Amino acid sequence: MNKPHAVVPDVALESLDKDDPDLPASRPVSVQSVPEIPEYLRKVYTWAYLTPAYSRYLDTSLVVSAILWGNMNRLMRAGFSEFEPGQSVLQPACVYGSFSAHLAARLQPGGHLHVTDVAANQVEACRAKLTDYPNSLVGFADAAHPRDRDYDGVCCFFLLHEVPEDYKRRIVDSLLAATRPGGKTVFVDYHGPHWAHPLRPIMIVVWRLLEPYAIALSKNEIRSYASKDLADAFTWRKETYFGGLYQKVVAERRP
Ligand SMILES: C[S@@+](CC[C@H](N)C(=O)[O-])C[C@H]1O[C@@H](n2cnc3c(N)ncnc32)[C@H](O)[C@@H]1O
Repeated sequence: MNKPHAVVPDVALESLDKDDPDLPASRPVSVQSVPEIPEYLRKVYTWAYLTPAYSRYLDTSLVVSAILWGNMNRLMRAGFSEFEPGQSVLQPACVYGSFSAHLAARLQPGGHLHVTDVAANQVEACRAKLTDYPNSLVGFADAAHPRDRDYDGVCCFFLLHEVPEDYKRRIVDSLLAATRPGGKTVFVDYHGPHWAHPLRPIMIVVWRLLEPYAIALSKNEIRSYASKDLADAFTWRKETYFGGLYQKVVAERRP
């Protein structure tokens, strides 16, 4: 069967232990450079993304939905509604649960999903989830690094709030630059909740304790992270959800 991990020449696995018995026997042998794990990810999110034992438990739609106060499906739908069957779409970081499979399904027939991440265990897990979608590729890339191709769309789901400010700028520019004229870059992420939102005090504590780079998104527009030339090449719109706690920002590249 034409599984993604059998057809993806750009998946590199040299960062994994060569004797790891859990690796699929059909793993590709070609090697592409694996990006370094960024310092913020090691410092803040090792427990969430870099520890396979925990990741296995966290990697369910139920957990993601709980973290998002029951809004996962709504936010997924909001993001996916911007894309159409037949398009080639970049997802620049893995997402727990069935997000990538739903996005891959949305692009069928004829579309392509390209998922990238910096963490080997996340790449492996995502490849396993996309075995039914042979038009999907899962590989290594740092979302802040420039891409060498244009996509019809980019779907950046809850990545920006996990990265420091300089990284937010680099990621936003890199993803905008990877979007073809007429295409869309879509960001779904946290936003500043209304002052009377009952969850606001809880979220502020959660951000302070666990997600130190998230609070900036309650103050800054995502557009403000783009360099001026790129920002001006796009039209921007924003919608908020759940009392302003979440946002979708769509940047559409002028033809
Ligand atoms: C999209 S974010 C969080 C999404 C959401 N909390 C979830 O997983 O359901 C999580 C992923 O981002 C990846 N990541 C973090 N920084 C990255 C970067 N600079 N480039 C690519 N992937 C990155 C992590 O390895 C992790 O797999």
